[in-house]
This record gives sequence, C-alpha cells and structure tokens, in this order.
Amino acid sequence: MSDSTFLIATMPGDGIGKDIIESATTIVDISSVIVGGYKCEWEMIKAGAEYYALTGKDVEPGGEEKADKAHSIFLGAIGLPTIRHEDGTEICPHLRFREMFGLYAGVRPVKAYPNITNRLSNNLASKIDLVILRESTEGLFYSAAVHNRCPVDNDQEVQDIMRITRATTEKLHDFAFNLARQRKNKGKIGKVTCVDKANVFRTQAFFRKIFDERKVNFTDIDSEHCYVDAMALNLIRNPWEYDILVMENMFGDILSDLGGGLVGGMGMASCAEIGDKHGLFQPAHGSAPDIMGQDKANPLATILSSALMLDYLSEKNKCPSAAIGAKLIETAIEVGFERNELRPMEFGGNMGTQAISGALISLLKDKSVQDRTL
Ligand code: IPM
Ligand code: MG
Repeated sequence: MSDSTFLIATMPGDGIGKDIIESATTIVDISSVIVGGYKCEWEMIKAGAEYYALTGKDVEPGGEEKADKAHSIFLGAIGLPTIRHEDGTEICPHLRFREMFGLYAGVRPVKAYPNITNRLSNNLASKIDLVILRESTEGLFYSAAVHNRCPVDNDQEVQDIMRITRATTEKLHDFAFNLARQRKNKGKIGKVTCVDKANVFRTQAFFRKIFDERKVNFTDIDSEHCYVDAMALNLIRNPWEYDILVMENMFGDILSDLGGGLVGGMGMASCAEIGDKHGLFQPAHGSAPDIMGQDKANPLATILSSALMLDYLSEKNKCPSAAIGAKLIETAIEVGFERNELRPMEFGGNMGTQAISGALISLLKDKSVQDRTL
C-alpha cells in the first residue's frame, strides 16, 4: 500500500520560528520513515513581521490560498516587537487565519514531564495533565482579528469588542465534551470546567448558558463552572484536579501562558487550532527574538504540536499510521525526560535546539521507545 502524503502549508515566521520549525519537520520526517504509511510534504510560505518589513505584506501572495488547500497548516512563530502597524499593534496574520479558516477550538495541553523543575512545591504537580480549550475566533479577540473593527477608535478613546456567538459557542462546548470523553477513555478524569466571568458580563453569562444547554448531551462527563479569576488561583493551588478548561479567547490566551509556566515554561506549550475544515498547529509561545539564531530555543512545543497535527491528519484522512507516528514522538519525549536525556536550556539544562533534536532522533530509533509505542 502506498503512503498517504500530506501537504503541509508551513510558515516558519519570525525569530526562533525558523529554528524550531526545522527541528519539528526533521522529527516528523524521521517518524514517518520509522512508522511508514504516511509522509509530509512541507510547502514553505513566507509570512510574518520580517516579511512585512520587507514587502508591506504579512503573507506572501497566494499564501492564504495555499494554506486553504493544504491538508493542514504548520506555523512557527509570528511577530516582532520592533515591527508594528501604525496603530501600535504587532503583525499578526495568524489571527486572521484563525478567523478565515474558522479555527474556533484552540487546544492547549498542559502536561507535566519528569525531571523538569517543578514550579510548585506540591509533589502532586507531577500529575498535572489538563487542556486549556481556548475559543480562538471571537471573544475579546474579535476586533483584533482584522483591522477597523473597533467601534470607537480615536485619540481620546478606544473600544474593543467582546463577541460571543451561539453558533461558535455550541461547537466549542461540544468539542470540549467530546475531548473529555476521548480522554476519559484513556483513563483521564473526564471533566469539563466552564471558565467565565458570568457574574459580571452579559457575553459571559451567555457563554455559560450555552455550556449548560450542551452539557445535558454528555451526562457521562462531569461538568462545573469556575470564574476566571478564581481559576487563576486554582491553577496554582490544585491544577492536578482539572481536565478540560473551556473559555473565551482572551482568558484562554492568558491562562495558557500560566499553564505553560506550571509545567516548566512556554517551551512545552503546544497548540492545535481546529475548525470544521482546517487545522493549524503551532507552539503557543512567541518568536523570542532575544534568543533567535543562537541555537538556544526549546523546540519541544513545536514538536509536540507536530504530534497533535499527525493525530489530526490521521483522524481526518483515516490514516491510522499517522496516529502511531504521533504516539511515537510523544513517547520519545516522555522517555527522554524520564531518562534525563532531554535537558532544554530553558529549564537550566545544557541542550540547545540542535542537541534536543539530535537526542530525540536517537530516542525515536530506540527499540524500547518503539516497543512502548506500538
Ligand atoms: C498565542 C499568542 C498570539 C495570541 C499572539 C502572538 C498574537 O500569544 O498564540 O497565544 O495572542 O493569540
Ligand atoms: Mg498567547
């Protein structure tokens, strides 16, 4: 049987984007040689702040059409603090992609790995394994996705909009419950927490109302509400008691960085942005221009995102071997931390981008890692 070939619209972007994308594409290519049955073709597309500074465009001509047609989109990091639009905001074509491709479900896993310094003193921190499900097309990012959407925007006053729609929110909550169900089948908690600010905002009371309407279809899954401010507290106090946390866009942006911090740092923060027809995969961290081109960046968030992508491609295209590839990559990372063979500089270790990739390649080829996967 011939391999399934997936066309991946790939945008390395700015800063450390190029280093980490290269590392992830290498790992995926090696996984497909080992597992067989799938192959990725990386179609490189120029996008980002550097490209904008050179050309006045944030994506190369035809880039969005290529992304539209590909099997999935893979992104490094976009944005540089020194390059901005006249209105003071950074170059973020990625926000537009989320909207134009309807990528409402931002899946941001927060998982503790062994031998990474615990940020919390409680030993239960090693059990942290939750997902922040960030709505990614509306909420408080609605006016940020494209320009000229602020209802008031002058030098005396500026207003952004918080937009919550029934159509998107129903899909989001269903996605949350379905994900909790999948995870419960793998032995995880099986609980969805609706994180909102329903005590104050009409949009947020609406978000919660729709959560309560949808949860009746998932009686096998526990559900609860938590205000977002209390959630920030609970994520420090008892994060190991949570499973899926579903919330609007801006809350998800903030709490996913907090989540990254809980398990070490943003270098472990992977992300899948899923819509009805498209999927975009990227690390949740930024372009870190202070360490770009110095072989210091931790590529694991991007590599973990590529594993999420293989899972997505597998399900969408009925290609079970791609899911095995995803599992192989995840297991290699797990084992690498267990054996202390992955020591990113981000956590005080001595391994830069290349060294991490090299160690991971050996782990992918390691018989015991393969045995644990298959
Ligand atoms: C993220 C990032 C982006 C966001 C930025 C770079 C536009 O912070 O993916 O969390 O705010 O969504
Ligand atoms: Mg963010």
